[in-house]
Amino acid sequence: MAEPIKIGLLGMGVVGTGVLENLAENQEKLTNQIGRSLTVTKAFVRPSKEKERLAEKFDLTLVYEVEEILQDSEIAIVIETMGTIEPAKAYISASLKAGKHVVTANKDLLATHGTELIELAAENQVNLYYEASVAGGIPILRTLATSFAGDNISKVLGIVNGTTNFMLTKMVQEQRTYQDTLDEATALGFAESDPTNDVDGIDAAYKMVILSKFAFGMTITMDQMTIRGIRGLSAEDVAVAGKLGYAVKLIGSAIKINDSIHTEVGPVLVPKNHPLAAVQNEYNAVFVESSGIGESMYYGPGAGGRPTGTSIVADLAAIAQEIENGTTGRPFSPYQQELKLTPKDQIINSYFFSLEMPDHSGQFLKLAEIFTKLDAGFEQVSQAKGDGEKARVVIITHPISETTYAEIQNQIQLKTKFKFISSMKVMEEK
Ligand SMILES: NC(=O)c1ccc[n+]([C@@H]2O[C@H](COP(=O)([O-])OP(=O)(O)OC[C@H]3O[C@@H](n4cnc5c(N)ncnc54)[C@H](OP(=O)(O)O)[C@@H]3O)[C@@H](O)[C@H]2O)c1
Repeated sequence: MAEPIKIGLLGMGVVGTGVLENLAENQEKLTNQIGRSLTVTKAFVRPSKEKERLAEKFDLTLVYEVEEILQDSEIAIVIETMGTIEPAKAYISASLKAGKHVVTANKDLLATHGTELIELAAENQVNLYYEASVAGGIPILRTLATSFAGDNISKVLGIVNGTTNFMLTKMVQEQRTYQDTLDEATALGFAESDPTNDVDGIDAAYKMVILSKFAFGMTITMDQMTIRGIRGLSAEDVAVAGKLGYAVKLIGSAIKINDSIHTEVGPVLVPKNHPLAAVQNEYNAVFVESSGIGESMYYGPGAGGRPTGTSIVADLAAIAQEIENGTTGRPFSPYQQELKLTPKDQIINSYFFSLEMPDHSGQFLKLAEIFTKLDAGFEQVSQAKGDGEKARVVIITHPISETTYAEIQNQIQLKTKFKFISSMKVMEEK
């Protein structure tokens, strides 16, 4: 039997431990396929009794100085599961420069510094793989890079944040408030103590940067995206949407229009008969439309040590195979095109508007005038009975451009004193 391929692990938390468990459980199968075993010899951690216990269990050496991995010439692959930008970026860069392949689950880092790291990997003829960075246990990136290599993708829609999907499921199914579901998500360990990245759509946006690259070969930056989360979403709006036949979901979308793309994250009214509406609780899904395959959806756990660890081990196996074949150095997604962003007047959608207005005659007319002047027709209107002072009005428009949508909001602010409660995109019926 050939020598094992030696691996260094940076960070041994939820995902790092999941990797070790997966490797231990599947070593025989991996060796059978690759012809060599994959062995984590060293883990870089901060001292703790728990880490010592894990080191013993998985028969590895703990190191407290990262250089002990970066300068170990026997280590061929480094797994980074520490998270956040620094020092992860510095350690990954040093690993690549030292000729080591890198596997990471770090979407924050890939979405913000991916181009630089991908270039660095290419310069050093090593691999940088990150299947686990999007939708944890769903093998979506490699699928887009390989199975769609000869297909023309027009749309990628993702429920790629488990925390917010859990919260929205509870809001829809159990008529609970935003805060109540956030508290439960926190208690169950889905949401961080600071939930900003989840509820404000930032985590989903990181993943859409990566998905856009794999689907369309274009590298978009976070500041080129419209990012809206679900913070403060009203339970009443979720209930009204339900009565109108929609589930509210936090959707990341990357859509190709002619030769340009539009990528965004925001709460969307999803028709109940759309497959994405059936994705419940902390589960994730990525829905792809392409000219060859047509519609396909990839569904599964978006997080968790074992699912995410499985994706990392799949990356390790792919690298090991390339080491054996002498074919390392190719980018994870070789498809590359110049970024072209879709102009706002070409982005067409129906919208949901929820407003509070004084509950007396003539008020709705003011609203109708604004919409009519901007050529925005109503598809559905629902008016909840007011308390005599205020009435809640919900409108779903016919398809309008993003420019018209912005102007409607502007005009409502300028010409009325109506309280804007929310506005969301409405996904078209299937
Ligand atoms: N959790 C998931 O389901 C999931 C899914 C997809 C992707 N990811 C990504 O996977 C990565 C890891 O997530 P996780 O959930 O495993 O996080 P975690 O449980 O907090 O683990 C991170 C580990 O890294 C260690 N660490 C952080 N900074 C360090 C430093 N400067 N020096 C030494 N050790 C350091 C921490 O050590 P201490 O224990 O001493 O704090 C901790 O053990 C992140 O990039 C995350 O976005 C996670």
